[in-house]
Amino acid sequence: MKDIVPAPPPIVRNEAAAVQALFQQHVIPSYGRFDIVLSHGAGSYVYDVAGKRYLDFGGGIAVNALGHAHPAIIEAMLEQARKFIHVSNLYYHEPQGRLARVLVGLIGAGKCFFCNSGAEANEGLYKLARKFGHEEGRFEILTALNSFHGRTLGGIAATGQDKVKKGFEPMVAGFQHVPYNDLEAVRSAISPATAAVLIEGIQGEGGITPASVDYLLGLRRLCDERRLLLLMDGVQDGHFRTGRFQSFQRLLEGVPGAEGFLPDGLSMAKCLGGGFPMGAFWARAPYSDLLGPGSHATTYGGSPLACAVALKILEVIEREGLADNVRRVGELLRAGLDDIARKHPGVLRQVRGVGLMIGIELAPDIPNLPGDPAKPQAVRMANLLHAAGLLTIPAGTQTLRLLPALNLRPVEAEEGLRIIEDVCSRMG
Ligand SMILES: Cc1ncc(COP(=O)(O)O)c(C=O)c1O
Repeated sequence: MKDIVPAPPPIVRNEAAAVQALFQQHVIPSYGRFDIVLSHGAGSYVYDVAGKRYLDFGGGIAVNALGHAHPAIIEAMLEQARKFIHVSNLYYHEPQGRLARVLVGLIGAGKCFFCNSGAEANEGLYKLARKFGHEEGRFEILTALNSFHGRTLGGIAATGQDKVKKGFEPMVAGFQHVPYNDLEAVRSAISPATAAVLIEGIQGEGGITPASVDYLLGLRRLCDERRLLLLMDGVQDGHFRTGRFQSFQRLLEGVPGAEGFLPDGLSMAKCLGGGFPMGAFWARAPYSDLLGPGSHATTYGGSPLACAVALKILEVIEREGLADNVRRVGELLRAGLDDIARKHPGVLRQVRGVGLMIGIELAPDIPNLPGDPAKPQAVRMANLLHAAGLLTIPAGTQTLRLLPALNLRPVEAEEGLRIIEDVCSRMG
């Protein structure tokens, strides 16, 4: 009987429509959302409310360092919550001090400030730069075209993309944008008001573009010559996403003369809390004491709970050798994607990136690409991959980003490649 009578289909209420209705009525519509209502996750998989499984190559936009529902994170949260979740920064507590020590050990001599998001971490860097230049009347920060630094008023002023600024003018003063990977453009833009240069080691939202070695080393020399702070936004490309703690460490690996390279300030977030909202910035000695008592603060920054989670993530990354995993699985993905791009040049134009920060640039005008022609190709392609069971993140109109968990397994990477190849094959 069991063999010949199939099980009846499960009764599925239309929970997706009910949840979407709640959003439509009660949530400010500032996000363009995909038509997916998620219910829960486990490792590198998430499930929607109808039970459909997706392989998560988006990682919550480079956030879920250890995937979903990792037992070590759950345990760390419970253990810390039993002691206390929050205490004010008017007092000391051990988790914040210990986390700062570990981060300083991973970056270089300096100190850390803790906050709650990437944009807020960058705000700290802007304030550091302003404080640094204040006595000489210097306040301006040079940032790169195509950069992304967050959605606060300071963040959109710093970001080198017009689309985030539109409708919110006038911009906060004191930011100039210059082409990325162009040292001479930075040199020419320096004025008596310039205090700092801020770049991403690998531009993320801008489409996965790594800084060149010459650019990084040249910026360090230029900032030293002109007494400017070199600031790096490590929010998306940091935390072992490239196989080293920070992308500059990976990009400069083995480069003669680059051993001692350090920026003067560095922002972090995303993987730092693995999904628990957390940001931080590091400032190099001697700039690490510029922001003295009363000069900068946030109520929740570096709470015991956030710090306990961040410490546990770093412990798991170390114990499970995830920096090496990122390199191995990243290479597997890159090789597989290059192969798919060779077979389907009419669909994939180029694959870029380092470790598990990979950008897939789509070919212009893909023939037979289903979906609303008014929507960018990257969104239409992401929709096709969703239908096939894979989450990816669009960057701009033409690029898809893969930012999976750092513990992505080789079999999962291969499953993702099969889905991508299958979707590409359908377009000829
Ligand atoms: C490089 C970079 N900086 C800053 C941010 C802003 O971070 P958050 O969204 O946590 O404010 C992002 C977010 O995507 C980012 O990619």
